[in-house]
Amino acid sequence: MVTRFLREKHIAYVKSLDTRRDELEYWLSEHLRVSGIYWGVCALELMGARDALPRDEMIAYVKSCEHADGGFGAHPGHDAHILYTLSAIQILALQDALDEIDADLHAAYVCSLQDKATGAVRGDRDGDEFDTRFVYISMQALVLLGRFRDERHKFDIDAAVAYIALCRNYDGGFGMVPGAESHAGQIFTCLAALAIAGRLDEPGVVDRDLVCWWLSERQVPSGGLNGRPEKLPDTCYSWWVLSSLAILGRLDWIDKNKLREFILDAQDDEAGGIADRKGDVADVWHTHFGIAGLSLLGFDDLAPIDPVFCLPVSLVQNIRSRNKK
Ligand code: FPP
Ligand code: ZN
Repeated sequence: MVTRFLREKHIAYVKSLDTRRDELEYWLSEHLRVSGIYWGVCALELMGARDALPRDEMIAYVKSCEHADGGFGAHPGHDAHILYTLSAIQILALQDALDEIDADLHAAYVCSLQDKATGAVRGDRDGDEFDTRFVYISMQALVLLGRFRDERHKFDIDAAVAYIALCRNYDGGFGMVPGAESHAGQIFTCLAALAIAGRLDEPGVVDRDLVCWWLSERQVPSGGLNGRPEKLPDTCYSWWVLSSLAILGRLDWIDKNKLREFILDAQDDEAGGIADRKGDVADVWHTHFGIAGLSLLGFDDLAPIDPVFCLPVSLVQNIRSRNKK
């Protein structure tokens, strides 16, 4: 059983991802490359290793995924999608390089994805996939770009809140679309979107006791958290469940020490990185969300993370004060 946080190994693991370009796994992950960089860079930042990856190369790569009519793809030549657009903007924010892009161009792209009749947000211009993830992503992207509640960009916050309310279920949770089952990942995106909009207390939307009960029921005897009833525990839910409880001020509704044990036991004690659970292969997604969970729990001397933005608290404070000016 691994009981110590392996900081140096995880820093080396994230750095190694950048140098493994000859491996099949690297090419197989091309469809989500920009998001992979956000997970890696954010994890490094939480571990106090900001300079571990080459900054200029990273910024140039992100900009090579940019589209002239707004948005970013996952990799150069890939279509723009809101998932990668947020990741690209988060990376630039983490590198203090947001002035390298045209904020109005990308804010216009984000706003163009909202269906003003329902408030829902689609993932890309050509598709018809709607998902509460995209509502949250568009709001976070607009805040980072300094274009939330901006006269020039028409994002309908009231309609977005009404759409989230429609996605609420009888058990207090939220799903991907209206009528879809509650899922911890979607609960996070809906609560975080409401938090950004300042509407967590919207009448009839968030039943704090009920949803926190549902979230705290996600902890299984091993200490890990699952995303839905009857599912296996998974390190990434240390973020989706925990950040939701943190947004509602109820982090103490789960056993923090047991969750830490579960996350630490999922570490690869040779090559570094964290897996979804003990015995599985580590990947950068679970490494990032495991570390983000430990940060929210206040363990292992990690930089504090903001539960709404999934970015370091210090960065979110800077962005907020910049936006007030
Ligand atoms: C579960 O993923 C997680 C979700 C459905 C929420 C994902 C949310 C985003 C991508 C929005 C952006 C998030 C941040 C933090 C900026 P899964 O079920 O595919 O994961 P798994 O297979 O490991 O369980
Ligand atoms: Zn997972």
